[in-house]
Amino acid sequence: MFLTKDEEKMLKGECGEVVERLFRLLVRLGDIYGAKKMIPVGSVQVAGVSYKSIGDPGLEFLEDYAKKGAKVKVLTYLNPAGMDMENWKEIGFPADFAEKQIRIMNAFKDMGIIVTSTCTPYLSGNLPRFREHIAWSESSAVSFSNSVIGARTNREGGPSALAAAICGVTPNYGLHLDENRKPNVVFNINTDLIHNSDYGALGYYVGKTVKNKIPYFIGLSESNTDQLKALGAAMAASGAVALYYVKDQTPEANLMEIDGLETIEVGKKELLETYESLNTGDNADIVILGCPHASLREISALSEKLEGKTLQKPLWICTSRIMKEAANRMGFTKIIEDAGGKIIADTCMVVSPIEDMGYETTGVNSGKAANYLPGFCKQKVVFKNIDELIDKHLKT
Ligand code: F3S
Repeated sequence: MFLTKDEEKMLKGECGEVVERLFRLLVRLGDIYGAKKMIPVGSVQVAGVSYKSIGDPGLEFLEDYAKKGAKVKVLTYLNPAGMDMENWKEIGFPADFAEKQIRIMNAFKDMGIIVTSTCTPYLSGNLPRFREHIAWSESSAVSFSNSVIGARTNREGGPSALAAAICGVTPNYGLHLDENRKPNVVFNINTDLIHNSDYGALGYYVGKTVKNKIPYFIGLSESNTDQLKALGAAMAASGAVALYYVKDQTPEANLMEIDGLETIEVGKKELLETYESLNTGDNADIVILGCPHASLREISALSEKLEGKTLQKPLWICTSRIMKEAANRMGFTKIIEDAGGKIIADTCMVVSPIEDMGYETTGVNSGKAANYLPGFCKQKVVFKNIDELIDKHLKT
């Protein structure tokens, strides 16, 4: 692989032990995937943040790097942590878990990482530009940035993203190269999608049907960015789809050639069957929304729905700290809290230890969360649209 003079220095250990170790990891990765050179990245999003996911070995690794003076070179955000970093006590996160999670966040902070833990960095001050090369980790954020923004990223693992942040570069392979970004299957959608959960159901179905491919959607009704983030998140979860196109809606879709590609028809029947297959529970004992992290538009719609109502069971809305601040300022948080709900920042239903907090059946409107909750959090799942979840399961 061609290396610049500065990169040679990193490889020879002239920039310190941590940089050398992480740069070697990038070189190895590049060799495996046939990269010819490194490319600078505009921003990074690091996964492996929740204590639930990385445990003590991850914590020790991060503290060791922070102690040795590791510092990031580019704008770097974090994936969701395992708890709300400010209100964890009041919400009921276990104290021993919190102590470890706080140490993890301090290590990241010492490395110069912005400790805004979210899977929607693009809504919270880390918006890549069109065709910018980045190194992001969380699968829905990767899908959104590649597809809806038109940036270029592979799905990085925690260590390779941290290496990109500290070295400022990533190997040039995979979705950084135009030749690997061509669609290879068409989905013709013959039904109207109304709720965000319909996009989650469609994404789950498409991901299951064509794992690791690049789908091109035709016939999708005009979608907003919340719906596209729900679609991409579910596809990434069920089929590792990291890039998709929607005719007339995503920025590069109309530049793509689709003549001769296999076309798969999707109608109401497929969506209903998907809802059915993801529903494993009957009565939710908590409803958790915000997968991917809720936008201000989603929080605002929910506050409108809950105004003057009283919920009979817990409701969480997961979002980023920045979005929660905006919701506070707009008075949305107060309306939701008055109804008995909570806006939870920095974490989500999948990476927080909800199974240790007494919950057994979780209601969600996200295809991704419905896919992961049984395995990651031992939950039965009620997967429905927001109206059904709130009206029937929370009995307002
Ligand atoms: Fe985000 Fe957690 Fe869902 S990381 S996409 S809210 S599973």
